[in-house]
Order: sequence, then C-alpha cells, then structure tokens
Amino acid sequence: MNLLVVGGGGREHAIIQSLKKNPSVTKIYALPGNGGIAADAECAGIAATDIGGIVNFAKTHDIGFAVVAPDDPLVLGCADELEQLGIPVFGPRKNAAIIEGSKVFSKRLMQKYSIPTAAYAVFTDLKEALSYIEDAPIPTVIKADGLALGKGVIIAQTRQEAKNALRSMLEDKIFGESGSRVIIEEFLTGPEVSVLSFTDGETVVPMISSMDHKRAKDGDQGLNTGGMGTIAPNPYYTAEVARECMETIFLPTIRAMKAEGRPFRGCLYFGLMLTPDGPKVIEYNCRFGDPETQVVLPLLETDLLTIMQAVAAGKLSQVDVKWKDASAACVVMASDGYPTHYEKGFPITLPELGADEHIFIAGAKLQEGTLVTSGGRVLGAVSVKSSLKEAVDGAYALAERIRFGNAYYRRDIGQRALAAKEEQ
Ligand code: AMP
Ligand code: GLY
Repeated sequence: MNLLVVGGGGREHAIIQSLKKNPSVTKIYALPGNGGIAADAECAGIAATDIGGIVNFAKTHDIGFAVVAPDDPLVLGCADELEQLGIPVFGPRKNAAIIEGSKVFSKRLMQKYSIPTAAYAVFTDLKEALSYIEDAPIPTVIKADGLALGKGVIIAQTRQEAKNALRSMLEDKIFGESGSRVIIEEFLTGPEVSVLSFTDGETVVPMISSMDHKRAKDGDQGLNTGGMGTIAPNPYYTAEVARECMETIFLPTIRAMKAEGRPFRGCLYFGLMLTPDGPKVIEYNCRFGDPETQVVLPLLETDLLTIMQAVAAGKLSQVDVKWKDASAACVVMASDGYPTHYEKGFPITLPELGADEHIFIAGAKLQEGTLVTSGGRVLGAVSVKSSLKEAVDGAYALAERIRFGNAYYRRDIGQRALAAKEEQ
C-alpha cells in the first residue's frame, strides 16, 4: 500500500519512521517532506498548504491511506478533500480542526461544556480591550484568535506590555486576520503537560505524556519557539492526574465536539497546566505536537498504521494501544539565532545510530547530495532508555556526535523533570 504524509518537519519524520515498520507499506510519499525525510520517503515539492496540489498528487499515486500532520492544511480542509477522493485519512475534518484554528471557538466550547480552562474575554475593538486591561489582574495573557505559527500568545507582565500587545494585534495587524480577534485570558500557574491522544470521535486513547521546553534559552529564558526539546513521560502527570484529566477534560471534550456536530478524528493534543485548582486546558491542537511526537512515537509499541487506520474507520475501541516501559528525551538542535534571524546552508554530518537512538530531521535540504541546514529547528536528537536520566544523557551524547555550522541547543532539557522526579 502507498501512503501519503502531508508535512515536512521532525514530527513528520518521526511519523514516517513509525509508519514504515508496517509490512503492508510499500511506499511513502511526503508532501513536501525535507532533505532528511528523503532517506525514508519519496518527497515531492508540493507545499503542505497547497491543497489543490496535494489532491492532484493523491489522484495519480494510488494512495491507500493519508496522514495530514500540520495544523494549517487541516484547518484549510485537506482531510475533507482527500476523503472525498475515497482515501481514508488520519486527521480531523475542517469543522473539527477549528478547535485549534480558532481559540475563540475552543474557549466557548470549554465554557459551554464546563471544561476547566482560564477565565477569558474576547475583543475585536481596541478601545474596549484597552479599557478592560485597566482593571485586569497582571500578569495577563493576550492571544490572537487564529493560527500564528505559535507566536500569537503574549504573557504581559505589565499593563503597558498588555496594551502594546493589543495594539500590535488589533491595530497594526502583526498576525493579519489571525489577530483581528483577541482573547484576554487569566494567567495560570503550575507545571505544563502535553498529552497527545488518539481519538475517532467516540473513544479517546491518551498517548504517553510529555513535557515541552518552549523557550529558546536555558532556564526558560528567551523567546517562545516551536519547542526546543521534550521528555516523556512527564513526571508531573501521575496516574491520579491522568484519571482526573480523563474525567474532566478528555472525555468531555470528545463528547462536546460530537454534540456540536464536529466529531474529531485524528490526534487531539491537550496542552494542560496543572494548577493549584486542578488540571486546566491551556490550548488544544488538532494534530501531533512537535517536538512531542519525537519522544512519544519512539515509545509506542503498537503498530502506528494499525491505530491510525482504526481511528479513520471509527474503530479505535478495537485496538489495544501499548507503550514501552521506558523514557525518551529529545534535544532540538537549531540554527543559532532561531526563532528570529539565523544563518543556514551549512552541511550536516550525522553519526551512526545505536538501536535506542533516533535523529528526526526538520530543517534540512539536500544540495547536490549533501544534507545542509535550511531552517531554524534543524533536527531532533532522541534517545530511548529505561530511565529518564539515561534518556536525557543519551540525547545529549547523541547531539554531541552531530555536526553542523551555527548549531545551537539548550543544555537543560529534562532538568526540571528530573528535579520533579527527585522530589517525588
Ligand atoms: P500556546 O501557544 O497557547 O501553547 O501558549 C504558549 C505558552 O504560553 C504556553 O505553553 C504557556 O506556557 C503559556 N500560556 C498560555 N496561556 C497561558 C495562561 N492562561 N496562563 C499562563 N501561561 C499561559
Ligand atoms: N510543541 C508544541 C506544539 O507542537 O504546538
């Protein structure tokens, strides 16, 4: 069977390597893929947002199953279009992807169905938003309604900062239409947990929990990025917390989407904060997280394609999803300067890998047969071991064997998790 995977980052590389393990897979096409993914799949130069191009490609390549991984094609209705060709798809339809595509939609959904989240107000008018800020507790959180490449969230430490953020979104339109509606949200505190889940709209199966490291610099300093590293499982996410989340967040969300006539089939990502008042939803994503996927999928024991096919067919309850009793760590190696300005085009030297090591390529292209850096996040160095400490050490030992010009990575991935484990 031929598979089609839409997307071209580290997440997609991890998904493709897992899918490849299924013996019924003959060929995997990646649209657009990248220079590293090219070692595992045939890459075609069609952008993930070129829905017409993807559909035309699918029509002529005898595709038996498709996975749409990134948020923007899902929000644009890529899954709907592929389904219309008769291709089973892993990934939500447009009417369900809105759970990530519009933060206003997701906040209203949570309010309507009593799913715990931060208190909020919605504004389109700058004057009204500015006047609300006068009395709002500080710090406060300002969010653009639509997709903004993970940059649409500002934690304002002062009233002035909050006002500047509102002006830049509502007046200067720095996020275009995505920021023409904003949310002002209560600032929550507590450890963060990412829980990706498989769901067919009825059954929800949480994956192993993980912890992202979103800031660019050590000690959670610097700008917000797509994610500079991950570990799994997340030590804050105890069995008791997991039970509570299932009862108060996961099942109510799946039921709410169904009740709204928007059944969610695919990977629903719960970005959670474990606050003193219990777990609350910070955000939903309509897709696998990146780099969360790079630590979660290497711990999956059950065949990924089997699970994805069951999700697409509405038969997830029939699959027993199993996880390895191990830990994983991912150190993202980036181009120094990311997430703002950075130099690229440097050749990458990759080492031989041990059985418990993975390198997932994100921002690299092939230039005359040589892999060179082409993006901010270049790759993820991943290690799977029986303990978290060994996994973190293993990921750093692997990163040290990888060479490219202008390489930068955080030195403290997993440290907070290791400290939490010591306390337990
Ligand atoms: P998001 O892009 O929605 O994941 O937000 C980026 C980051 O901002 C999250 O991972 C949190 O660390 C932080 N954040 C978002 N919303 C809140 C909130 N209501 N309170 C505190 N921190 C938040
Ligand atoms: N790592 C966070 C995300 O994928 O949104």
